[in-house]
This record gives sequence, structure tokens and C-alpha cells, in this order.
Amino acid sequence: MSLPLIVVIVSILALALASLSVGEVITCSGIVPMRYRNDKISITDYGAVGDGKTLNTKSFREAIYRIQHLRRRGGTLLYIPPGVFLTGSFNLTSHMTLYLAKGAVIKATQDTWNWPLIAPLPSYGRGRERPGGRYISFIHGDGLQDVVITGENGTIDGQGDVWWNMWRQRTLQFTRPNLVEFVNSRSIVISNVIFQNSPFWNIHPVYCSNVVVRYVTILAPHDSPNTDGIDPDSSSNVCIEDSYISTGDDLVAVKSGWDEYGIAYGRPSSEITIRRVTGSSPFAGIAIGSETSGGVENVLAEKISLYDMGVGIHIKTNMGRGGFIRNISISNVYMESARKGIKIAGDVGDHPDENFNPNALPQVKGITLKSVWGEKVEQPGLIKGLKDAPFTGICLSNINLHGARPKTTSWECSDVSGSALQVTPWPCSQLTTTNYQTGSCSDHF
Ligand SMILES: *[C@@H]1O[C@H](CO)[C@@H](O)[C@H](O)[C@H]1NC(C)=O
Ligand SMILES: *[C@@H]1O[C@H](CO)[C@@H](O)[C@H](O)[C@H]1NC(C)=O
Ligand SMILES: *[C@@H]1O[C@H](CO)[C@@H](O)[C@H](O)[C@H]1NC(C)=O
Repeated sequence: MSLPLIVVIVSILALALASLSVGEVITCSGIVPMRYRNDKISITDYGAVGDGKTLNTKSFREAIYRIQHLRRRGGTLLYIPPGVFLTGSFNLTSHMTLYLAKGAVIKATQDTWNWPLIAPLPSYGRGRERPGGRYISFIHGDGLQDVVITGENGTIDGQGDVWWNMWRQRTLQFTRPNLVEFVNSRSIVISNVIFQNSPFWNIHPVYCSNVVVRYVTILAPHDSPNTDGIDPDSSSNVCIEDSYISTGDDLVAVKSGWDEYGIAYGRPSSEITIRRVTGSSPFAGIAIGSETSGGVENVLAEKISLYDMGVGIHIKTNMGRGGFIRNISISNVYMESARKGIKIAGDVGDHPDENFNPNALPQVKGITLKSVWGEKVEQPGLIKGLKDAPFTGICLSNINLHGARPKTTSWECSDVSGSALQVTPWPCSQLTTTNYQTGSCSDHF
């Protein structure tokens, strides 16, 4: 064969390989098609001033009212130009894109005494931290479809420190606002936005389906209380990818309601994908719970990198929760500096009131953790089932958790069954290699 021909063949092969590996980037973001909208308006057309001082609540509400009522074919994009736009909370509407240009900041007012209240979520029966109603989220959507929040990595800033201080001083009257919340909504995309200093949880889709969150950055100080990153709650088909989250609480926590209220409401979270997420927190990296009373199933988390963590992977529930946590698969996790690598426990979290049913026990079944590598992990793992509801089908394989000190502490397990294969340090006698080999790790649903 002549040299040029070989070069040509090799180039074609290389090209083919390259396109193959490009095509191999797995994503779930296709569950909601990205929308491009012809009709565009700018927040400045509605009198908004991006000087960081003018309160622009009226402008946001008027612009969105216009989108809602003109109902342009294909929806409308609301453009936020560079500048700092201070505003009170506002509601989104269907068929709209909130577009933050590079250098655009939508900043929440710290006027907490004027913050609107809304009813508690039925699956929680009360506000998550205080009885009664709760403050509406800074950016809110209820009963919507086809909503996009995107742009060129502009910022949504909750200015949460006033709220954190009220929490610290125990002067909060109601439950703090989430930064962004969608209730009963579908076809939602949140991408290429920076979220910072949320008063409470950052992104909370509840009773939603088809939600994509990708290319987001979520930042809050490690000592800020309850600043969870993304909490899919009683929602299905949620895709979280390619994001960086560093906050004061769980980075991603899948939930589904609280004790007797969540049981009665009975709405699970299912088909949740979490992929290529990196972050840091004094609490958990990937969490399920602890509010799981509507059930959580079919969760896939993979390619997760965690640094300076409380607990790398935390599956948590409690007596009184009821519900189930099943078919959870977490793989390819790297963690560096963590107090605990893996925790699966049935005694975590508080109750809404005295009326929870202590006999409502959760079912925890079919948790597969695969290819987890940890460095400087103080304690590798804790698996603590419930005596009257042992955790079953807990399958661990290819897990290496290296201690922080020369002498590694050991796993602790109770009321659990399942299997372990190539796990160091070795977890506990309840998890056997035989189970793995007989394949009981793949067919226990
Ligand atoms: C925003 O939506 C909430 C919940 O649907 C509603 O209670 C509230 O009145 C709305 N606020 C405004 C200003 O429209
Ligand atoms: C915005 O941030 C994402 C994620 O960090 C990044 O992939 C993307 O290139 C950034 N886009 C712009 C326009 O800066
Ligand atoms: C388990 O969950 C995965 C998603 O992680 C899903 O593809 C699979 O169908 C589920 N298995 C069962 C038996 O429901």
C-alpha cells in the first residue's frame, strides 16, 4: 500500500473514531427539546433599571403579564441585559424563556417583611421549617409548561444572608423561600445560569415532570443553612447534568414528601438521572431523602466528583416516613476528603408533628453502588436498616475508600442484607460475595 493511501485510511479511521466518541457523550437532556423563540422583549422595555438599587418588581411582573396575555406563537423570550436588576419575587408563565445575558444579575430584594406567603405543599402538610404557610420562592412557577431559564451564565442571586441570619437567630416566622421553585409543571429547562446565595433550597421542582437542569453553577457558603442545590421532589423524568454545586447542604437530594402528609399525597419521584456533577458541601453529595414518603424509585447517578464533603452518598429515611426507596443505582463516584463515604440509614430526619405513624416504615430495596473511589475518607460507610424493615438488596461492588489516617476505621452495618464484591475496606458480614455471584443483585424488584 502506498504511504498516502495509508495516511488517508488512518485519517478516515481517526475521524470515524472521533465522531464515535463525540456521539458517545450520554445525555438525558433530550427529554425536553430546547426552544428558540422568535418573539423577544427586554426587561428594560418595561422600565427596569439595572443599577443594583432600583426595585424592578413591577417591571418583571408587567413583562411576564404581557407574555402570558399576548400568547405569541412559539412563546416569548424575556431578555435580561447586563446589569444588576434588583426585584421582589415574581411568577413565571408558560411558553417563556427567561434569558440572562452575560453580566446580567437578577438580585432578590432583602425586604423580607414584604415577602408574599403561599400555602404549604400538601405532601409536607406545613412549611418545611416552620408550621403554616411558607414564603413564595424568589422565582416561582405553578401549573406551567414549556419554560426555559437560560442565557450566557448570568446570575440569579438570592442575597440569602438576611434569611440565614433569621434562621440562626430563630426569628423566622415562616419557612424560608426557595430560590427557584416549579410546582405542578412540565417541560422545564434550566441551563447556563449561575445561582448564588439562595435563602433556602436552590432549585426545587415539585410535582413536576420532564425537567432538565444542566450547565448550571450553584454557589452558597458552606455554613449557609439548608442551601440544598437541586431537590427533585415528587417529580418524574428529571435530568441533572454537567453542573457544579458548592453549598451549605446536600448538592442533589431526591425527595417525595414528609411522613403522614407525603404518604397521603402518595406522589413518588421516579426516573431521575444525575450525571457529571461536581461539587463540595459539609453535608451530602448525592442524597435520597430524608423526606421520601411518596416513594423514590429508578434513580441513576453517575460520574460524580466530590471534594471536601460531609457524606459522599447519603440515602436517608426514618420511621414514620413510610414510602419506599428502590432501584437506585450510583456509579463512578470519586470523592476526596469526606467525613463518611457512604451512608444508608433509617434514622435520619425530623417529623412534621406528633401525628406521624411510627409504624409507617419505609421499604429500602435494591441499592446498587458501583465503582466508587475515595481518598481521605474518615469513615468508609454506615448501613443502618430498621429492625422491623431491614434494607435488602444492597449491592456494593468495586468500592475503594481510603482512610484519612494510616489506620482506616471500619464499616458499620445492621439490619441489612445484600452483597459485596471487591470492596475495601470490607463492609460487613451481612453483605456476601455469594449473593453477588448468584446474581441476586440484579433482579430484586
Ligand atoms: C404567584 O403565584 C402564586 C402561586 O400560584 C400565587 O398565589 C400568587 O398570587 C402569584 N403572585 C402574583 C403576584 O401573581
Ligand atoms: C457557561 O457555563 C457552562 C457551565 O459551566 C459552560 O459550559 C459554558 O461554556 C458557559 N457559557 C458561556 C457562554 O460562558
Ligand atoms: C431501574 O432504574 C433504571 C433507571 O435508573 C431503569 O432504567 C430500569 O428500568 C429500572 N428497573 C426496573 C426493574 O424498574
